[in-house]
Amino acid sequence: MGTRPERVARTSVYLLIILAAATAAVVFSSALTYRNALSAADDSLKLQALGIAASLEASLQRSDFAKENLLRDIISDGAWEGIAFLALYDRGGRTVLHSNARLLGRKVEDSRMQTAFAEGTPQHYYLMLGTDERVFILDAPVRLHSAEYLLRLALHPYPAENSVRQARIQLGISVGVTVMLWGIGLVLMRSQQRAEKLRQTIEERERFAVLGEMAAVLAHEIRNPLGSIKGFAQYLIEQQKTDPARNQQPLEIIVAETRRLETLTEDLLVYARPAELKPSRFDLCELIHACVAALPHRPGIACDIDCIAPLLMTSDQDKLRQILANLLQNASDAIEHEGTITVSAAAARDTIVIKVIDTGSGMDADTAAKAFTPFFTSKTRGTGLGLAIVDRIVGVLRGTISLETAPGKGSTFTISLPAHLPER
Ligand SMILES: Nc1ncnc2c1ncn2[C@@H]1O[C@H](COP(=O)(O)OP(=O)(O)O)[C@@H](O)[C@H]1O
Ligand SMILES: [Mg+2]
Repeated sequence: MGTRPERVARTSVYLLIILAAATAAVVFSSALTYRNALSAADDSLKLQALGIAASLEASLQRSDFAKENLLRDIISDGAWEGIAFLALYDRGGRTVLHSNARLLGRKVEDSRMQTAFAEGTPQHYYLMLGTDERVFILDAPVRLHSAEYLLRLALHPYPAENSVRQARIQLGISVGVTVMLWGIGLVLMRSQQRAEKLRQTIEERERFAVLGEMAAVLAHEIRNPLGSIKGFAQYLIEQQKTDPARNQQPLEIIVAETRRLETLTEDLLVYARPAELKPSRFDLCELIHACVAALPHRPGIACDIDCIAPLLMTSDQDKLRQILANLLQNASDAIEHEGTITVSAAAARDTIVIKVIDTGSGMDADTAAKAFTPFFTSKTRGTGLGLAIVDRIVGVLRGTISLETAPGKGSTFTISLPAHLPER
């Protein structure tokens, strides 16, 4: 069956496939209709032209050619619709008859005419007239009074092209409907993905709630006996101070390790259940200065602060202090001998961007990918909770965090936070 996100992704894929298939079917059938309409229009024009040509030939047989206006009269007679012009040429290309009397007697050089004469069968094609009109032409060789002529018929294609126009409209509608379908499909897919994301957030929140409860109980249960162990060890150290023969080292180890366990339980508690948001207004520059000052001093490490005071923001100061303390500690850990830690902060509209930059060891891609995972550490005495806590608190403060790093190139953590959370 797969997990839920997989199922959601699969549904999206199905939806896309159905949409693509529907699109292909609609476009294909519309294109087919369009093509059929085109050839049907062609056929009907051809039939119409052949019919006219046949009856014209018959009436020309009966008449003498002396009547110059013969063809014009036929057009104005109105028996046939859609005729653009009519002409009769002799083998030499001379215009014997024309519906436009001014063109009579004119000689026409036309390879198509020669083809029609040579083949002895009617030829048809489309032609652009000088008036920018597209017409359907039928060149029909005819025998009149034992001489060969060419009867040229030009038809306006638009009556026949009505069906083509309809097909074109249909094609347009199909494209429109398809675009609409895609729009609806994409909106559907997006809302489904959004719902899935929301569900994941809720699930995560529930998981953290249970985890927080467990961590609180555990921390409480561990803290008390831990306090006793540390207290007794310290008591023993005091007692035996007067006796130089006694080895104090094991007791000191006990004290150091219990301290470590205390930090771990505290970190775990913070990670699993961050205290609720208490937004207040404060100067971020001041907070940064305080955090940098609180960082245990190490010779060889220089600290730079790039911030123009006052940089007022409304957020949870304690949580921000926790974030900065963790990032500064990591930066300090990453510098082996000498290096610089830079903390910068600036406001960009409603967002405050804080950067913690170090010139330390940097991380390879694998470490960087795991750095925010709880309990991941590359340090012998690390808890692996520092960045997990940072990530979690940044989320609680409705911000985002990103990391840029490379081995030997140092690391840059960039945090974007809303400048003003609603105060309570
Ligand atoms: N500024 C940094 N430079 C290099 N590596 C870092 C930096 N910050 C974090 N890391 C890496 O990410 C790991 C996890 O950090 P963190 O969650 O704070 O746990 P911890 O500090 O206890 O190891 C560290 O062990 C280290 O490998
Ligand atoms: Mg750390």
